Amino acid sequence: MDWLVVVVQWLHVLLGILWFGNALALAVIVIPAMNRLPIVRQREIGGAIGLRSNRIFPVVVPLIILLGIARGTVLGPIKSLDILFGTAYGLTWLAALVVTTLTFIWGLRVIVPAVEAMERAPVNAHGTPTAALIAATDRAKRLVLVELIGFLGIYTCMILMRFGL
Ligand code: HEM
Repeated sequence: MDWLVVVVQWLHVLLGILWFGNALALAVIVIPAMNRLPIVRQREIGGAIGLRSNRIFPVVVPLIILLGIARGTVLGPIKSLDILFGTAYGLTWLAALVVTTLTFIWGLRVIVPAVEAMERAPVNAHGTPTAALIAATDRAKRLVLVELIGFLGIYTCMILMRFGL
């Protein structure tokens, strides 16, 4: 057994669980639970989650990608462009790289600004949400759910590679 491969895969999967698991937990637990709360409270919780995520995932995701690149190339079978473009494994690995990068950019360029817009949206004088705040909150939640499409694609690639495809 090659212990370097074990360590790299251990860390890759752990950090992957953190990122993918966070998105799944938001979609299946946090957002449905928050939907029962008043909108102003939802913004408060959503803003706090966003702030924390912005500090963690810009470090975690590049690490997942670097470890995945190492696991597939120096520590894996992709040793030439022929293998990269000419085998099912190489193409699946490439798809994972592209989809992960796009999913990361989606988070940074689409979800983060949407959460910031939600935080800026005004409330009425007596503390009730304005139409703008309701729309901004709904939009932020929808965009987080759309991100799951990317994760399901990445997850499928990981399982396919496990079986050599
Ligand atoms: C959200 C992002 C990711 C998650 C959650 C994730 C998760 C996983 C998991 C759970 C495995 C273990 C699969 C198994 O042994 O059954 C794995 C393996 C692997 N991952 Fe990822 N991964 C992610 C992104 C990437 C990226 C971007 C790359 C590189 C382009 C990559 C490359 C690999 C490779 C090469 C393996 C080993 C496959 C094998 O030959 O068995 N991963 N990943």
